[in-house]
Amino acid sequence: MDTIQTDCLVIGAGLAGCSYAHYARSQGLSVTLICADELTTGANSKWAQGGIIFDTSYHPEQLERDIMVASGDTANPAAVSSLVREGQSAVQSLLVDQLKVPFDRSDDGELLRTREGGHSDKRIIFSKDITGRAILGRFHDYVRTLDGVSILENHVAIDLLTLSHNSVYPLDKYKPITCIGAYVLDSVQGEIKAIRAKKTVLATGGLGQIFQNTTNQPGVVGHGIAMAKRVGARVIDLEYIQFHPTVFLKKNCQLFLVSEAVRGEGGVLINSEGKAFMDTQHPMGSLAPRDIVARAIHRELISSGEPCVYIDLSSKSPHFIKDRFPSIYERALACGVDISREPIPVAPAAHYTCGGVYTDLNGRSSVQHLNAIGETACTGLHGANRLASTSLLECLVSAKLTALADSEAIANESFHLPEVREWISPEKTADEVLIRQDMRLIKSTMWNYVGLVRSPRRLMRARRILSQLYEEIDSFYAGNRLTRSLIELRNAVCAAQLVVHAATLNSESKGSHYVAREDEDIDLPLERHDVLK
Ligand code: SIN
Repeated sequence: MDTIQTDCLVIGAGLAGCSYAHYARSQGLSVTLICADELTTGANSKWAQGGIIFDTSYHPEQLERDIMVASGDTANPAAVSSLVREGQSAVQSLLVDQLKVPFDRSDDGELLRTREGGHSDKRIIFSKDITGRAILGRFHDYVRTLDGVSILENHVAIDLLTLSHNSVYPLDKYKPITCIGAYVLDSVQGEIKAIRAKKTVLATGGLGQIFQNTTNQPGVVGHGIAMAKRVGARVIDLEYIQFHPTVFLKKNCQLFLVSEAVRGEGGVLINSEGKAFMDTQHPMGSLAPRDIVARAIHRELISSGEPCVYIDLSSKSPHFIKDRFPSIYERALACGVDISREPIPVAPAAHYTCGGVYTDLNGRSSVQHLNAIGETACTGLHGANRLASTSLLECLVSAKLTALADSEAIANESFHLPEVREWISPEKTADEVLIRQDMRLIKSTMWNYVGLVRSPRRLMRARRILSQLYEEIDSFYAGNRLTRSLIELRNAVCAAQLVVHAATLNSESKGSHYVAREDEDIDLPLERHDVLK
């Protein structure tokens, strides 16, 4: 088994992982960055459409208030203040000045600002409707040039290494649980390596792909959360799964995100009869916080019996729509919907994991030398529901604070990185059909029983299904040669169980976790969506 040693092992190469590599390298640390695909594909942040909050220093108290209100007053005030305090300088120095990300500007060169749901002001900068792609495009080119950052593409983390579980020295099991890196699979060569690191950083995004309908990229099944849990790290707030209200929905077409910025620029939610329905639900109308809009759509779908509602953009000229939202325009057109002339069919889908691996504001989890950043982590910044366009900003800020704290720790503490045990792999090859079928069952169970509207009975059913599935998958996992899909399946069932467990323990409806009353009609829009297919 090959062994690599590094100061910092970063698992995941989205905005959080790449930013950490930048900041750690700028402190002189060696970094090994692993990504499950090629560097330029895969990460969720690349597909972020809307934008990134920029003006955190302009009326900071107003932004703090918007984050708190969106969270239903459940966010952690210390995490909110930290984001607001650190945000603007990180965006300005790294994204605007250093990487020169092509954000949209006015004719006189000023950065343009837009609004999204829950924001009381225009404070979000953007690059058309491909902000994530614009940022990560620059970032990926940049990290490839960094000496001291070794990028391992097509490498998937299998399990975290800890002193107590993996050291070759028996007495190490008496030490506190301490992370010393990870076993990883080179999925092209089929080889397993051990990467030993002083600091291990989880930046694997959230877990949207454990739900049938999601805006997340393939493979985003809660890898970091599942791995952290297996070594005993604390995970919190996992019942709070944010559903994005507006995901393109049309028969025989792939789902895709329709950015909240579409409503920020004047789009209005209407039902199949052409009636605007949000103004009676919330003073901010179509731009209310996401949990409120998503549930209002859900109710609308139940009462109308229709599979989707629509965004009406008729107040905008076709020229404006094509210029401001070129990617959404093209994708919808490919599905036969010309959004410059007709309303956009949309429905909610799983989008963002507000909970995750518990960390302090410097990314430190409850396991020594194990960090989590970005969507994988939970500092309490989002509480029960996230404010739009905070996620890319959180990636930057959490990466920066964590890298700086790690640099200080590495300079001042001593680290014990012993040899680790060989990975023993069975020879038998897993049946991919079984893997795909199990994955489908996880996704449909989560969508049907642990979706936007939950009930104790459905959660109980989900719990039983997943616990039986877990047993199957665990023995399957132990008896077959490792592949990427098998690793994904094992982490997906673990993440799903964690979400169900958290949802079952919390009977209070708050933000994105809504438990229906006994007498409430919670018929599923999904059943209608299935009919569409
Ligand atoms: C969107 O553009 O609506 C998504 C951006 C986000 O989740 O903050």
